[in-house]
Amino acid sequence: MFFPKPNLRRELASLLGTVQAGNWATYEDRKNMPFTNAVLHEVQRFITLLPHVPRCTAVDTHFRGYFLPKGIIVIPSLTSVLLDKTQWETPHQFNPNHFLDAEGNFVKREAFLPFSTGRRNCIGESLAKMELFVFFVGLLQTFTFQPQPGPQKYTVGHTLEPSVGTS
Ligand code: HEM
Repeated sequence: MFFPKPNLRRELASLLGTVQAGNWATYEDRKNMPFTNAVLHEVQRFITLLPHVPRCTAVDTHFRGYFLPKGIIVIPSLTSVLLDKTQWETPHQFNPNHFLDAEGNFVKREAFLPFSTGRRNCIGESLAKMELFVFFVGLLQTFTFQPQPGPQKYTVGHTLEPSVGTS
């Protein structure tokens, strides 16, 4: 895991001041906080929060040589995009640089699709993005987070989450 400069705390300190000053982030602040924004995007990419939302074909469908009859269940894999080695420099490594250019500016990536794509993509995307940023920055302003000692372990279920309290 590598964190380029400026790091999260420096960006938070320079742009928001201290919690005591009562300076809480708004969603607009993301434009002046490229590293923080990149970290948040990388978290969403790396954990592939909601990888499989089953769908059902509404009509008989021909897709890339396959025939999908009407009514068949299709389970897309967003993981295949978010960890695609043709799209990401280090797909299996937590790397905020995926969303930063050489000058440290935030860059959008076409393969960043945690909310899926197409006409049935997540209807709550805008709300979720705003909440994630405001909560993430607020938590970092208020608390200090540290990884558990020892190797990091994850529980793979419907979502990828840290294994807490297990050895
Ligand atoms: C980090 C948070 C969230 C993630 C990663 C996420 C992800 C997704 C994904 C992957 C889908 C399936 C899209 C598809 O099949 O093409 C979806 C659908 C949906 N999401 Fe979200 N979502 C999030 C938050 C929210 C929020 C906050 C709301 C509502 C306030 C919401 C409402 C919905 C609804 C209603 C659908 C179904 C849309 C449809 O069937 O047309 N989501 N979401």
